[in-house]
Amino acid sequence: MRFHFPLYSSSSFSLFSDFTFISSLPLIFSSSHFSPFISMAPAFEPLSPPHQEAEPQTATPHHADTVNNFGNDGQVVSKSKVTVVGSGNWGSVAAKLIASNTLKLNSFHDEVRMWVFEETLQTGEKLTDVINKTNENVKYLPGIKLGKNVIADPDLDNAVKDANMLVFVTPHQFMEGICKRLVGKVRGDVEAISLIKGMEVKMEGPCMISNLISEQLGINCSVLMGANIANEIAVEKFSEATVGYRDNREIVEQWVKLFSTPYFMVTPVQDVEGVELCGTLKNVVAIAAGFVDGLEMGNNTKAAIMRIGLREMRAFSKLLFSSVRDSTFFESCGVADVITTCLGGRNRKVAEAFARNGGKRSFDDLEAEMLQGQKLQGVSTAREVYEVLSHRGWLELFPLFATVHEICVGRLPPSAIVEYSEKKPRLSLLEDPACYQ
Ligand SMILES: NC(=O)c1ccc[n+]([C@@H]2O[C@H](COP(=O)([O-])OP(=O)(O)OC[C@H]3O[C@@H](n4cnc5c(N)ncnc54)[C@H](O)[C@@H]3O)[C@@H](O)[C@H]2O)c1
Ligand SMILES: *[C@@H]1O[C@H](CO)[C@@H](O)[C@H](O)[C@H]1NC(C)=O
Ligand SMILES: *[C@@H]1O[C@H](CO)[C@@H](O)[C@H](O)[C@H]1NC(C)=O
Ligand SMILES: *[C@@H]1O[C@H](CO)[C@@H](O)[C@H](O)[C@H]1NC(C)=O
Repeated sequence: MRFHFPLYSSSSFSLFSDFTFISSLPLIFSSSHFSPFISMAPAFEPLSPPHQEAEPQTATPHHADTVNNFGNDGQVVSKSKVTVVGSGNWGSVAAKLIASNTLKLNSFHDEVRMWVFEETLQTGEKLTDVINKTNENVKYLPGIKLGKNVIADPDLDNAVKDANMLVFVTPHQFMEGICKRLVGKVRGDVEAISLIKGMEVKMEGPCMISNLISEQLGINCSVLMGANIANEIAVEKFSEATVGYRDNREIVEQWVKLFSTPYFMVTPVQDVEGVELCGTLKNVVAIAAGFVDGLEMGNNTKAAIMRIGLREMRAFSKLLFSSVRDSTFFESCGVADVITTCLGGRNRKVAEAFARNGGKRSFDDLEAEMLQGQKLQGVSTAREVYEVLSHRGWLELFPLFATVHEICVGRLPPSAIVEYSEKKPRLSLLEDPACYQ
């Protein structure tokens, strides 16, 4: 990759990252369609003079040393302290990315705390002790050094108490409990970001995880999603990610700085719901892709599943939140994450095994056997999406989402994944641009 795109090299990275940020923001703020392609273009044409495009306001980014605690009074306050809540496969990689940046950037404290759900390993040792001693998460990310400045902490309250930047990255089913425990325990000026894929369905309707965090803790929460299979980023293979934020450019700039490395390119998009729904819904598409693999149906079929899946993701997101932008689906969190998850992710893998077993072994069983403590999201998300669809009378509009759930619970055979079109869904609503207004 680096040979083709010289700007990815580490020596020129700071220019590149600043410039990506500066050049993409005005486009996003002007809500132009297909901003990803416009904002990406300069990356592939290094000769164009990027700064000319920037608005004067964004062309003078504030100095790193003065950006602290997000105070906008220009006063130098203390450096930002980051805590990562969660330490699974992706949580550990996120801690590694962040820890490499806090060492380099003045506006952050070097130390990164990582809350670890304590467990005792087969050797009899505590996981936190081993992480502290070896700088390695031997259970969820073996063989990768996290950085000496990552401190494992089994005490949730203690891990968050000094932080003003919280990175949430646990499997989604644990977040409600974690939020309850954190009420009143976090700093008043804390900002959060969620890397969590999944949602909770309540009586009132679907609740996204960032929203759960915001509401329970009374804090702002951005999201980071993308085509990010953790093990590939752990060995520093190039990838991209999308940060979805609500309205505060200063805060999103901090998040972009905290995560960006020469091999991890982060783009901000002003669409929290769109970015988060992409990250959540793509796991349902991945289950469908796994069925197709298990049934050995070939590459055309898989591509069709990805396309139909992406369309349903977009339609579902826009029906739930009218603010969701079409352009978000062309970012890393959209089409790119659908592709990588359908090719390589764990949801795909377990769904393939499910189909190969003719649906006779349950997902719980296969998850326990195949994932060594890692969690699947797609099956529970499919159930949650199905609840929303049936509750709102939208089942016919989303044949792929609905069929995935019915296969997962054994109501339909895996082969039904390519038969749903025969139900003649009322696709007109999905096609009709008016429903997106
Ligand atoms: N792994 C990836 O490639 C990847 C990539 C992008 C996003 N994500 C998302 O990141 C989130 C976290 O996934 P992960 O891969 O870091 O986790 P994981 O599935 O690898 O690990 C499970 C984690 O859950 C913890 N845990 C177990 N029981 C718990 C409990 N009762 N309370 C709290 N924690 C408990 C375990 O200690 C472990 O840290 C998920 O939403 C996932 O979708 C993962
Ligand atoms: C981890 O290391 C830090 C710093 O050395 C220490 O303060 C902390 O008690 C250690 N935690 C555990 C669980 O070993
Ligand atoms: C959330 O962010 C806004 C700026 O977008 C800020 O005014 C507000 O104080 C923040 N809320 C909290 C609880 O930090
Ligand atoms: C998809 O195409 C690749 C490359 O030709 C091939 O190796 C693979 O077997 C194909 N997959 C299926 C399921 O046919």
